[in-house]
Amino acid sequence: MTPYPTAAPGRRRLLPTTRHELQVLAAARPAMAGVLLAGGALAGPRPGGAGGLRRVPGLGWVTADPTVGRRVLTDHQHFTLVAEGGVGHLWAQILGDWVLDLFDGPGHHDLRARSRELFTEANSARLVDTAWSDPLGQARCTLAAGGRVDIGRLARVLVGRMMISLLGIPAQGDPGQPPSAAEAHAAFTTGERLAAIALGSAGSTALSPGQVAAARAIVAELTRGVPDGWRDASPDHLLGRCREIGLGLAETTGLASLLLVAGTETSASAMTRTAALLVDTGEQHLLLGRLAAEREQPSERAAGEPDVVENAVREGLRVTSPASVIGRGVSADVDVAGRTLRAGERILVLTWAANVAAGPFRADRPYAPQTRQLWFGAGRHLCLGAALARAEIAALLHALWDDGVPLTISSRRATRRALVPGYDRLVVTRA
Ligand code: HEM
Repeated sequence: MTPYPTAAPGRRRLLPTTRHELQVLAAARPAMAGVLLAGGALAGPRPGGAGGLRRVPGLGWVTADPTVGRRVLTDHQHFTLVAEGGVGHLWAQILGDWVLDLFDGPGHHDLRARSRELFTEANSARLVDTAWSDPLGQARCTLAAGGRVDIGRLARVLVGRMMISLLGIPAQGDPGQPPSAAEAHAAFTTGERLAAIALGSAGSTALSPGQVAAARAIVAELTRGVPDGWRDASPDHLLGRCREIGLGLAETTGLASLLLVAGTETSASAMTRTAALLVDTGEQHLLLGRLAAEREQPSERAAGEPDVVENAVREGLRVTSPASVIGRGVSADVDVAGRTLRAGERILVLTWAANVAAGPFRADRPYAPQTRQLWFGAGRHLCLGAALARAEIAALLHALWDDGVPLTISSRRATRRALVPGYDRLVVTRA
């Protein structure tokens, strides 16, 4: 199987990723797909170690160099997420000016310090197990019986369930019962509508009054369970834990809104696209082989060394990089990679392009020091839910491949017009 167009030996790959991945990017945001591809070629690392940084009309500065990207994301003296160009600028218009402190000021430092233990590896594994074991169990049974599973829909239902359970979104049906698939799906699509408001923010993060009003209505709908949860939930529930670690109701509501936008489409995107990559590239066979060997003779791993599924998860995150760009505003003049960036300008870090440049999808690719985990950002805004996201993707891969049987994709449809590229439909069955 040759998932990538082949180039002459020793030459650069013709395309940086699979055709299906490129179709997914183009369906979501055609113009952004062009920026990612062109940016990878023009604003990647330069020979001799000089970083690629280009000014693009209508976008501002762009870079696809992982070193320059990390330099920008970790330099909080000269770059900010709450000025034009950063996601905090969007949120301040929707939630209010208190966001400026909570998302980037001293309040952010305090919030991060206190929320550090919300998504540890252990908590995350527990959250996934509690919220997902039923639907994942059903998917396993369907596959084992020779049936078809639409991973596109399954991922939306799973992530919707996670959000309902994290944010205490009141159940429509029997409050004692877990949410139905339809309820979970509805929670996901409401979060998706909120994220869609940021579509078009590549050129400007200023929102129209209509967009602000629509976003406020969605936030109110999705966070209506937060006050009760924050007051009454037990400390082993996220909202109860927020209260116990000293977060006020306003901070908890802000954090809840942020989790919704940051952790819904991104997770669903990484889950479905990683599964598709494993099938499309044929790497599922390597995964299955390693899982079988591990079952036969469990090997000792050094502390922190990933197992075969965790390694495939990291590789899926690198190659899909669902947060394909990260924006910042320049808050003070600064020299970067031989260029002078002026206060008030904006910069887009093309994380997808920076990450895919390390090579094609290989389920057993070792840790790449040049990218580290740029798919989760860097610096003080490094993804708060990274451990949860990894646990979610791993849980899906286990459900799909633990049986030891390869899968085939019988139909797929990429999501159109979405902030985060992904699959609406990805139907798999046993090969
Ligand atoms: C594959 C899934 C995910 C990816 C690729 C991802 C990626 C990112 C990235 C790149 C950032 C940094 C944004 C910036 O610097 O402007 C970020 C921040 C954040 N993420 Fe994630 N994320 C994922 C899943 C999640 C999940 C599941 C949650 C929680 C439920 C979450 C919560 C957050 C929060 C709260 C922030 C803001 C952190 C801050 O500003 O201090 N993310 N994420």
